[in-house]
Amino acid sequence: MGNEPFSDFLQHCQQRINQILDALLSNTGGPAEKLHQALQYSVLNGGKRVRPILTYATAEALGGVNGDTDLVASSVELIHAYSLIHDDLPAMDDDDLRRGKPTCHIAFDEATAILAGDALQSLAFQQLTELQNIPAQISLQLISCLATAAGAQGMVAGQAIDISSVNQTLTLEQLEYMHHQKTGAMISASITMGALSTGNATTVQLSALKTYGEAIGLAFQVQDDILDVVGNTHVLGKQQGADEILHKPTYTALLGVDGAKEKALQLHQDAVKALSIFDHRANQLRAMADYIVNRNY
Ligand code: IPE
Ligand code: IPE
Ligand code: MG
Ligand code: MG
Ligand code: MG
Repeated sequence: MGNEPFSDFLQHCQQRINQILDALLSNTGGPAEKLHQALQYSVLNGGKRVRPILTYATAEALGGVNGDTDLVASSVELIHAYSLIHDDLPAMDDDDLRRGKPTCHIAFDEATAILAGDALQSLAFQQLTELQNIPAQISLQLISCLATAAGAQGMVAGQAIDISSVNQTLTLEQLEYMHHQKTGAMISASITMGALSTGNATTVQLSALKTYGEAIGLAFQVQDDILDVVGNTHVLGKQQGADEILHKPTYTALLGVDGAKEKALQLHQDAVKALSIFDHRANQLRAMADYIVNRNY
């Protein structure tokens, strides 16, 4: 996977993670059939799979993907899928379109959407109980990393700040903190966890990857804010302009589209620079940095 052209790498990672998620959610739901349908609907519905791809690209940079990398990749995508279901709920962003289809609470109902998110979060951590090759100590590090990134010191904190900041003007510093938490934390964890899954990450490598992950994680949300302004609903698969309607605190609201683009490019540079200690095996990670700031959906 590591040496192939980037577009092939993207496609292979997507196929690989889709197969794994498909198998994971293929068991029938029994009496909770509606919940099961909602899980399949919300996870097996496209999505760029950026977080698992970053997990795979990081493992490649450190010498290779293995079965434990697959489990880690699925765990980060499951947390992400849960976060999207809850993000779209009426009490949060109240969105009706996700990945080109009605959001989970519209296709099913609110209670089912809440429960589907809950179930995906548990399933994510369950994946990390099945690691095969790495020492138990590293398994615990992986669980801790995911818990911190997903919880009240990470993504959930960012979402809480986001919700409480509607109609308010944040300083650039506050906005950056919020974006780091709500999106950067899980993106950064996807990278760190990819490194840990190889069982041979050094402290120096983990530190460089943390710098890369934080930069690219923030850049990802800056680009998401930009696309909310300049993107196309059909291409995005979610409603363009939703942030402005809700008076969301975004980079574009604070800096304008050009200022936000400048910020994304600066972060891209920071990210690529952090990879300078790695050899050609980190080329897919370098390409991911380009992809994240140049994407149009
Ligand atoms: C959307 O994430 C939510 C943010 C954190 C900005 P993605 O843009 O990765 O959504 P999918 O998974 O491709 O649908
Ligand atoms: C969501 O950010 C971040 C999450 C933790 C899910 P947004 O609210 O900007 O994501 P979209 O634009 O709805 O995908
Ligand atoms: Mg939101
Ligand atoms: Mg949203
Ligand atoms: Mg958004």
